[in-house]
Amino acid sequence: MLSAALFICTLILTVVLFRRRKGPSPPGPRGWPIIGNILDIPTKDPWKVLQKWSEDNGSDVVLLRLPGIRILFLNTHRSVQDLLVKRSKIYSDRPKSTMLELMEITWVFALMPYGTTWREHRRIFMREFNIETVRPHALQSARRLLPRLLNSPINYARQIRLSSADAILSATYGISPKSEEDHFVCLAESMSSALTDGHPYLVDMFPILKHIPAWFPGAKFKRQALEWRSLSYDVQNEAYEHVKSKMEGGTAVPCVATNLISSLQSNSLDCSESTTRNILAEAYLGGAGVTVGPLCSFMLTMGLFPEIQAKAHTALIDVVGLDRLPDFSDFGKIPYIDAVINEVLRWNPLAPLGVFHSVTQDDYYGGYFIPKGTIVCGNAWALMHDASIYGPSPHNFNPERFLLPDGTRNMAIPDADGAFGFGGRKCPGRAIGRDVIWISIATILCTYEIGEPIGEDGKCLDPAKIQYTNSLNSRPPYFDCTFTVRPGAEALIPTEIKEVA
Ligand code: HEM
Repeated sequence: MLSAALFICTLILTVVLFRRRKGPSPPGPRGWPIIGNILDIPTKDPWKVLQKWSEDNGSDVVLLRLPGIRILFLNTHRSVQDLLVKRSKIYSDRPKSTMLELMEITWVFALMPYGTTWREHRRIFMREFNIETVRPHALQSARRLLPRLLNSPINYARQIRLSSADAILSATYGISPKSEEDHFVCLAESMSSALTDGHPYLVDMFPILKHIPAWFPGAKFKRQALEWRSLSYDVQNEAYEHVKSKMEGGTAVPCVATNLISSLQSNSLDCSESTTRNILAEAYLGGAGVTVGPLCSFMLTMGLFPEIQAKAHTALIDVVGLDRLPDFSDFGKIPYIDAVINEVLRWNPLAPLGVFHSVTQDDYYGGYFIPKGTIVCGNAWALMHDASIYGPSPHNFNPERFLLPDGTRNMAIPDADGAFGFGGRKCPGRAIGRDVIWISIATILCTYEIGEPIGEDGKCLDPAKIQYTNSLNSRPPYFDCTFTVRPGAEALIPTEIKEVA
């Protein structure tokens, strides 16, 4: 009975696929009937495996098929430019996900379909979150990090998490979290995990499963979706209502939310309250955790390569001097620090496979047919490890690849902007992200010498064996390190943490 059903399903699927084919498909592993390439999905360093498949097939692009889902991986700079950038009008949609639908998080514009509502959210987000509104908060959060590193050097990553959330929460809502157990920090973290862990769900491949009642055995995804629905509601509303009540009491800290709410109240804002609420929550959700990975990578590489750390410190004090902390007037004046940041973003990008796009109409590329609805993924890791673009030994950590022998910027080597995605969906928070990373790095380097990274076994990590996590948000492995105050820098470290709220 079961084999007859399987046979009929295979037959239907073959007929459907045959009917829809309007040309050859891009190359990829052969796969199996019904389950397609489920068994081929690489579990370790998928970005490297996908790049290799491209090389083996002599093709810029490779295709994986899962039940009901086709994912096209673009593994070269050329294919990313040709499709995600030059044809961005049709390659800037997001894949539909039944699980996300069940979670009812339609307010997150990072997940919205390409169209008017998404465009309005993105336009206002980019206008309101700019360097003027964010930099003062980023500077203060970097300074608040210094005494925290001094007082609690063990598990420095906790302090980095707190500081990254601090920069975004204080810029967005004027809230300065005091510990990493802070309610608003935990809320954003739980929501981010809900959005990245475990996807795609079976219900994304077989949407009919969404009709199963939540109590039904095996319908855990449905109960999970309900739980996350309420989490999403809290992320969208709690901090917003908190600021509104502070404004009523006259105690709100000036921030993007107070600017927007004041404009709303004086009817001078060009969007509704719900759009305002969404944009603020998006910054909070999208921005609170994203600088943690790059900052931990920075600590790791400085500890592994002390000679690079020494050069970065010398370059920094040449401009800043020894008697003050860096500020944004120094930004853009220290090419070595900019090179370190580019190399951190390039060497192990936070999102090696970016965030998935999807195509809104049938298309052709290199003679291959790409049907409407295909999920499209720019392999940022592969692009940024292309020796023809970033120079020899792309697997080595070497900030000097971005510099000329005289120490100025080598304009022939592009910034590591692949880390921020591509085309119409490229990260609208990239300038903010770079600012938060820049001020944190400059402030830490100015005051502390970072010690070697010690792993769980108590030994220094071996650069040749470092394994970043395989998740969509890839992070360095666990390690700890010491922070030794640099001679003469004691007076620069604030003795107490100045809270903003
Ligand atoms: C180093 C820091 C950051 C990195 C590496 C990063 C990376 C990315 C990537 C890879 C994407 C997907 C782009 C695509 O679909 O092609 C993205 C989108 C996005 N990022 Fe960032 N990001 C960073 C900082 C931030 C910050 C600080 C914010 C908010 C304040 C932010 C808000 C967003 C939003 C809202 C989107 C969705 C854009 C859309 O769908 O139109 N990001 N980011």
